[in-house]
Amino acid sequence: MIEVDGVSFAYRGGESDAVHALRDLDIQIEPGRLVAVIGHNGSGKSTLVKLLTAVLYPTEGGIRVDGVPVRHETRWEIRSRVSVVFQDPDDQLVMNRVADDVAFGPENLGLPREEIAERVESALEAMGIADISEKIVDDLSLGQKQRTAIAGALAMRPRYLILDEPTSLLPAVAATRLIEAARELNRREGMGVIHVTHSMAEAALFDRVIVLDTGRLVMDGPPSEVFRRAEELREIGLDVPLAASLASRLRSHGIPLEGDILTDADLRKSVFALPRSAGDSG
Ligand SMILES: Nc1ncnc2c1ncn2[C@@H]1O[C@H](COP(=O)(O)OP(=O)(O)OP(=O)(O)O)[C@@H](O)[C@H]1O
Ligand SMILES: [Mg+2]
Repeated sequence: MIEVDGVSFAYRGGESDAVHALRDLDIQIEPGRLVAVIGHNGSGKSTLVKLLTAVLYPTEGGIRVDGVPVRHETRWEIRSRVSVVFQDPDDQLVMNRVADDVAFGPENLGLPREEIAERVESALEAMGIADISEKIVDDLSLGQKQRTAIAGALAMRPRYLILDEPTSLLPAVAATRLIEAARELNRREGMGVIHVTHSMAEAALFDRVIVLDTGRLVMDGPPSEVFRRAEELREIGLDVPLAASLASRLRSHGIPLEGDILTDADLRKSVFALPRSAGDSG
């Protein structure tokens, strides 16, 4: 379980120009959940990710991961439980060859050679890139680099995988594939996934959506609840998935759509399930 308890964080400038990136945050995330984090640019999403992976430490409050307090002294323990993939793979790929890069983290954990080999192989397979394991990282496409970075995170066998907008640089097909791979690992191995995204359609695929606005947690719930609050989301610079937005407008015109509507398929289903009015029943 990840417990964020009364956490604030300020980037230090001079005394007057400190940037208060997070304010009094309380969040609990059970293991094995699929959580999306959304928020406008600068709302504090990446700062939260850095706090959860012991890259930064709270100015106030505390964080525990599976009971271990996040501190400078516990950073390796924390990072063995929580793996992160940032937006730009070039920032995190360190080795020349794909397989060596994926092995880099487990090697730093000091694991036996056979275990490292086994982890690398299964991580490459999980990301569908076993066939490029001997390639040079610089020769890869952006999507392949991103998968290599995620394979490296998976080889750490984390309890929680955090993806900080890894899909924003990818074409839609590759982004969908990535999310499917993460969901599959969640199903198969119970790995928790925390996915930071600008895409509302992506967020709608998760069990829970956390919404940040200027460093504060403003909504936290299943996507069906969060995306019903279309007006409030719009006020903080966020959209809702198109289908949810259309459903909300139709409902406001008195059309009694049933059920949770997040995807185009949901909308189609609800529209076809509408009772026929006297006018068009012939
Ligand atoms: N190294 C830094 N020094 C000073 N201020 C920073 C630093 N990094 C981020 N900030 C500020 O902290 C706030 C939160 O930034 P953060 O990167 O966490 O937001 P974000 O939600 O990840 O944004 P984006 O959607 O653009 O990735 C912003 O006001 C940002 O300008
Ligand atoms: Mg960010």
